[in-house]
Amino acid sequence: MKNNKMRYFGNFKDWIKDEWVEFSISQTGIHPSIYEGTKTWKIWMDDGWTKELINNNVFNRENFPYNIEFPMIVDGYEKITPGDYDWNICRYRPGEFVPFHIDELDYPYIKFWMPLQDYEDGHIFLYKGELIKDYKKGDFFLFDGYEPHAAGNLGNRPRSVLIIDIFGGLMESFKKQYLE
Ligand SMILES: [Fe+2]
Repeated sequence: MKNNKMRYFGNFKDWIKDEWVEFSISQTGIHPSIYEGTKTWKIWMDDGWTKELINNNVFNRENFPYNIEFPMIVDGYEKITPGDYDWNICRYRPGEFVPFHIDELDYPYIKFWMPLQDYEDGHIFLYKGELIKDYKKGDFFLFDGYEPHAAGNLGNRPRSVLIIDIFGGLMESFKKQYLE
């Protein structure tokens, strides 16, 4: 479902495998304290956050038992190799939060955001000054990681989102096809 803040590329609900969602909502993933020592982590601590308050669980190729192949949308995507993109699933249980930050990577990227459930009250994604809501499972959006954003969960059930980073030649061809 469209919103004013993110470019929408359609719904790909049928592409999502139930086991991805099951695994991401039930298992323990990587804790954000891996960012300890970064500029972002220092800002959070200076602002009064603590390691105990910052919490989500991230799954990627290292700790997720299923292969997530690049989805749809770019013409010629059959030729895309795993090296052209990266993905993370970010899972927030009720009471878990990651404060405002920007995603600084070592290389230029574009990023997509796909919720793995329909929107529920209490599921939080703050972006460009707004709560992004009323989305459906599988909605596929372009997402600017250089815009400050924050996420969390004040609801009653876990919240999982798939983030896809695209870089290199794939990013260039994507920009040409869809963003110029
Ligand atoms: Fe982020």
